[in-house]
Amino acid sequence: MPGSLRHSDRARAARHLARIVGRGDSLDNVIRRETSPLCLELTYGCLRHHFSLTEAVEARLARPLRAKDLDLFCLLLVGAYQLQRMRVPIHAAINETVSAVRALGKPWAAALVNAVLRKLPVRPAGDASDHPPWLQDRIEAQYGDQAPALLRANNQRAPMGLRINRRKIEPADYRALLKRADIAFDDAWLPESILLRKPQPSATLPGFQDGIVAVQDVGAQLVGSFMAKQLRDGSRVLDACAAPGGKLFHLLESGLELDVTALDNAPTRLQTLTEAAQRLGHEGFRASDGDACGLAWWDGEPFDCVLIDAPCSGSGTLRRHPDIKVTRTPQQVLGASQLQGALLRNLWRTVRPGCTLLYCTCSILAEENDQVVESFLKAHADARAVGVELPTGTATRHGWQMLPTEPATDGFYLARIDKQP
Ligand SMILES: C[S@@+](CC[C@H](N)C(=O)[O-])C[C@H]1O[C@@H](n2cnc3c(N)ncnc32)[C@H](O)[C@@H]1O
Repeated sequence: MPGSLRHSDRARAARHLARIVGRGDSLDNVIRRETSPLCLELTYGCLRHHFSLTEAVEARLARPLRAKDLDLFCLLLVGAYQLQRMRVPIHAAINETVSAVRALGKPWAAALVNAVLRKLPVRPAGDASDHPPWLQDRIEAQYGDQAPALLRANNQRAPMGLRINRRKIEPADYRALLKRADIAFDDAWLPESILLRKPQPSATLPGFQDGIVAVQDVGAQLVGSFMAKQLRDGSRVLDACAAPGGKLFHLLESGLELDVTALDNAPTRLQTLTEAAQRLGHEGFRASDGDACGLAWWDGEPFDCVLIDAPCSGSGTLRRHPDIKVTRTPQQVLGASQLQGALLRNLWRTVRPGCTLLYCTCSILAEENDQVVESFLKAHADARAVGVELPTGTATRHGWQMLPTEPATDGFYLARIDKQP
């Protein structure tokens, strides 16, 4: 029945949210098998506007709900999101959401949900930034006048970037395939980069199964292309945090003949990398399951270029991963910056004198970017930061920062550190 399907979309969104908000599960994990566009819209939207929706709902509850009724609280968020941010007729938003209490196995809550939703204003509070205070404070302290635009940009929907696999097809030929399939797109900075006007499931892209195209943020592609410019045929390269393989594959599509080691310490992510490599037709690299904070995996032969695409807060990817705003903590950012420093210090030993290390994150926070590089430079007399310049973003003290205020890209940081000969 279409009606009950709609109820269950709302109930499933509430359950997804309860897993993320209550247990700290990641959005990617929770929606892995979710296919309903409405449920996805509700789940993403409630995370994107979690803070203002929570405030609006809490203010209209006579008393807080019990911890075991977090699913009901999340259903109220789902109702509030429809009322305030979607073009769902008010009566449908309320009735369908009230009916969803049955799908949650809590029919007793129908009157409560109905009463709260009827008290909610149908417009959101105008000035809500929808960021956790700790993150908003850091963005404001670091970005000053730019902060309001950055906070707004973080609440937009992420664009869908494609990378044409130049080993398999000419960029012009792939563009012709998109036009034939009536898929509207814009060009980005690189011949192989495409921005879709409207995101769509990757499996529906022309030639996706044949590996002639991959989904990748166009800002991430600028990192891969910058790296390729540092290399020549025969270069020995380490991609130290390689999975799921976006930058690695881009490098392998550069046309250079490279000797590449792809390291990662997460076996399931390495498995994803291996499967994607098969689809894209990349065989000429060594995948290695190892800890980049140690050297047990290393044969002792130095590398001409080391890429550390470091694990980080993901604060540059909030449009794509709005759950980060809800689940990430300042302690985790501190932990990430300590790990980033450890990776830099350790992998520096594998860089051939006279050669280069590239350090990159998808964070916009200085404590994971320039500050990590700064501490490293202070402790290593043989290290020198060399300016980076990319087609979008701005120079920082030691590297380059892309920001999602340029709507085409996520927020990325890149620094180039050369080792004295
Ligand atoms: C930002 S992701 C890399 C993204 C990848 N370079 C790409 O372009 O698709 C960071 C990766 O670092 C890996 N990682 C985290 N700690 C690590 C460690 N100590 N040693 C090796 N890999 C690590 C994670 O498993 C994760 O896959």
